[in-house]
Amino acid sequence: MSDIIKIKEEYLNKLSEVSDLKQINQIKSELFGKSGKISNEFKKIGSLNSEERKGISSQLNATKSELQNFIEKKIKDIEINEINSKLKNEKVDVTLPERSFSRGKIHPVSQVIDEISSIFSEIGFSVEEGPDVENEYNNFTALNTPENHPARDMHDTFYLDKNKEILLRTHTSPVQVRTMLQGKPPFKIIAPGRTYRSDSDQTHAPMFHQVEGLHIDKNINMSHLKGCLNYFIKEFFEVDKIRMRFRPSHFPFTEPSAEVDIGYELKDGKIIIGEGDKWLEILGCGMVHPNVLRNVKVDPSKFQGYAFGIGIDRLAMLKYGINDLRAFFETDYRWLSHFGFDPLDVPSSYRGLSR
Ligand code: PHE
Repeated sequence: MSDIIKIKEEYLNKLSEVSDLKQINQIKSELFGKSGKISNEFKKIGSLNSEERKGISSQLNATKSELQNFIEKKIKDIEINEINSKLKNEKVDVTLPERSFSRGKIHPVSQVIDEISSIFSEIGFSVEEGPDVENEYNNFTALNTPENHPARDMHDTFYLDKNKEILLRTHTSPVQVRTMLQGKPPFKIIAPGRTYRSDSDQTHAPMFHQVEGLHIDKNINMSHLKGCLNYFIKEFFEVDKIRMRFRPSHFPFTEPSAEVDIGYELKDGKIIIGEGDKWLEILGCGMVHPNVLRNVKVDPSKFQGYAFGIGIDRLAMLKYGINDLRAFFETDYRWLSHFGFDPLDVPSSYRGLSR
């Protein structure tokens, strides 16, 4: 038997037994490497006479391609085997019970802030923000509430320094000041956020939420204020009709000032907005005082407008039937899973998304 045939038989045998790529690579180099068996046979051709050379080289070429084809087929087989065994091992068992997980809920206050923002944005208000830690000037003085003004005591302010210059804002009204100082009229903004007063009972928490509204332009008057609030309350409570009452009031930064009540009725212990003969106070408002406009470099002979401040927590309690304000801030997960909102549920009043 010639050397070539011997090599061929030996390696076809070896190859039929290998089962991984490493062994195949080993065989490849044994055959076709620099001093591999087939390579050596090729080298020998040089010393043959031309007669022999012809026969041997065609035999050698045929053997070489036979071995190579066999090797390629072997590699494919091994790869297919690997994939099949992977598929077998990594099979998903759809009959297994699901792993338990809990999805977070959206806090009613966050939900209501989103609802309010989208309702006001429908009529052209943009949303502004201001810091919780304010200076005394923005919170009081610029808002026409000078030192020793009784309104300062009414606010039960948390001061953060001895000089009473830095404080936790007692209302969102300082965002009016910040907005007007930063830009030029007209202004049409709302500003939701946290506010603080030293007060705590079933309907008051030391930290609570308000949304400020401010609309300043030429010729904005009190009927615009009424129309705007009427629209907002109907949209928010998802009712076609409401009763609304403006009661004369006093805020240093508005003149005239009013508090707004809405009509409601109690049915089976539940508050129904828009019906009945009972009144519920929900916000303070008025025409921005000329002194405030002057303080923020807006000319009150050219521009005027209204402002309002709504208690957000109160609105959330009314709309979603929550009767203790303090529960909002106790971070009780059971409470949140009852009153919170599914992030994937979009209520109809969340107009920005549902339309
Ligand atoms: N800032 C007032 C409060 O907290 C509410 C308000 C805002 C009144 C704007 C008038 C205008 O009570």
